[in-house]
Amino acid sequence: MRQLVIAIDGHSSCGKSTTAKAVAAELGYAYIDTGAMYRAVTLYLLEHSIAFDDLPHIEEALHQMQISFKRNRKTGRNELCLDGKVREDEIRQMRISNSVSEVSVIPAVRHALVRQQQQMGRKRGIVMDGRDIGTTVFPDAEVKIFMTADTHTRATRRQEELAVKNEVVELADIIDNLEKRDHIDSTRAESPLRRASDAVLLDTSHMTIDEQVDFVLERVSAALFAP
Ligand code: DC
Repeated sequence: MRQLVIAIDGHSSCGKSTTAKAVAAELGYAYIDTGAMYRAVTLYLLEHSIAFDDLPHIEEALHQMQISFKRNRKTGRNELCLDGKVREDEIRQMRISNSVSEVSVIPAVRHALVRQQQQMGRKRGIVMDGRDIGTTVFPDAEVKIFMTADTHTRATRRQEELAVKNEVVELADIIDNLEKRDHIDSTRAESPLRRASDAVLLDTSHMTIDEQVDFVLERVSAALFAP
C-alpha cells in the first residue's frame, strides 16, 4: 500500500494530537507532534537561561540540543525526549505554554525544526500535527486537514487535560493564553498558522474524537483509492 503523509494543522487545543495519534495507530503510521518540539526548545532555552533575543546563543543551543521521540512501551505513547531524557510533563506546563509562541517566531528555530521534521517524514507513512505542516514542512502531503473549534470548547478541553496532571488553572487564564498564542501563531512572518489552499476544514466544536478520526480516515481512503 502506498505510504502517505498526513498533515494535521490548526489552532491550539482543538483535538489535533488526539486525532492524529488515533489515525496513526489505525494506519500503523508514525506520529510526530511538532508542537512538542517547539515546546522542547522553549524548555531548553529557559533551563539554560538563554534570552529569546540572544540569537548567537540560540543558534549554538540549536546545534547542541537533541530532540527525539521515544515510544513508551507501557502506554504506547510517543514521548518527547530532550537530550535523551523524557520531558513530556515539563513541556506541557503553563510556563512553557506561556512562552512557546515567542520562541516559535524565531526563524533559526523554525528552520532547524522544519529540517528535522522533513527528515523524520522522508520515508512517508507519517501523521504530523502542527501549524505549518501542510504549508511549509510537507506542502506535498497527500492528506491535509485544518482543524479548529470555538475558543470556549478548546479552553475547557485544555483545562481538563491540565487537571489530569494536577495543574489547576482558571478557565479565563487558559482562554487568554489560547487567544494570545493564536494571534502570535497567525501573524508571525515565518510560516504563520494558516489553512493551506488544499486543506480540508474540520471544525471539531461539536464532534467526538471518533467522528474526527473517521473524518480523517475517509480522506485517507479517498487519497489512496483516487483514480
Ligand atoms: O500544538 P501545541 O499547542 O503543543 O504547540 C505549541 C506551540 O508551538 C504553538 O503555540 C505554536 C508552535 N508551533 C508552531 O509554531 N509550529 C508547529 N508546527 C507546531 C507548533
